[in-house]
Amino acid sequence: MENVIARLKKLKPDDFRILRAIEKGMEHYKHVPLSEIKSITKFDAEYINYLLDRLHKYELINRWTGNYIGYHLNQHGYDCLALNKLVKSDIIASFGKACGIGKEADVYEGLTPEDEVVAIKIHRLGRTSFRQTKRYRSYTADRRHLSWLYASRLAAEREYEALSILYPLKIAVPKPYGQNRHIVVMSNIVGDDLYTIKDLPHADKIFDIILKNVKKSYQKANIIHGDLSEFNIIITPKLKPLIIDWPQWVSTTHPNAFFYLKRDITNICVFFEKKFHILSDPLYLVNQIMSNK
Ligand SMILES: Nc1ncnc2c1ncn2[C@@H]1O[C@H](COP(=O)(O)OP(=O)(O)OP(=O)(O)O)[C@@H](O)[C@H]1O
Ligand SMILES: [Mg+2]
Repeated sequence: MENVIARLKKLKPDDFRILRAIEKGMEHYKHVPLSEIKSITKFDAEYINYLLDRLHKYELINRWTGNYIGYHLNQHGYDCLALNKLVKSDIIASFGKACGIGKEADVYEGLTPEDEVVAIKIHRLGRTSFRQTKRYRSYTADRRHLSWLYASRLAAEREYEALSILYPLKIAVPKPYGQNRHIVVMSNIVGDDLYTIKDLPHADKIFDIILKNVKKSYQKANIIHGDLSEFNIIITPKLKPLIIDWPQWVSTTHPNAFFYLKRDITNICVFFEKKFHILSDPLYLVNQIMSNK
């Protein structure tokens, strides 16, 4: 990521125009031909080739040679486009250390122009295999060619949408600051992932607060998390649980809503029973959540 930031600083407006033209071309081409870049940018071929060479040297685009020569954005090029836009829109001012590198997303610390610390979550779907992108198939099914780029962007859009609905309802989630392409900017939660915590004072109360938030989300926002577990809850030093990682949320009207809600609640119940010996009945809790009393 340091390399991406270093290159981002060197890029000029015309470099971004080429990157955006390739991005646009990728809606129709797997490998975008020069003619397409030319018709989008209106630059002459010689200048485009000069810029393409630069971007290729910076490792922001890949060159494909088949029956013609084509280009596509790689992950770094896409990162540059999104980060540049977030900076230009005054959502972030700087980019800091990594605070969570995983299979489906990389999370970094950052600062807003007002010096607030934020979490910058870069969705990276389809990095390891098709298995992850499959999770998002329901909302990528209408795309003609599913790619990591679309899947990652849709995941970010979905996550931002959920946070934008949940946060104003005072449900315990990070505050959304903005989103562009595959990146979501949200408040940075200081704390530890629930699964890493050995001793949790008042575990029963925390369990209750988590369930209250799930119910509020169900009743007031019509949203079911869909991937709730000890891996997606952060506990702050003041012992407040926050629910993170929302891209796969489903509506309460989804045909499989009951299945997802039951799975979410069962995960939490099993974890609290195994680790903190709190016994509960998942099905009873699911019914309580679904009842508007
Ligand atoms: N808003 C935040 N503030 C602080 N840390 C965060 C925030 N969001 C995520 N993290 C950290 O980054 C990790 C990964 O984030 P998240 O669960 O949202 O992504 P993921 O899709 O599960 O990615 P992964 O494949 O890495 O698990 C979290 O477990 C958490 O430690
Ligand atoms: Mg997670």
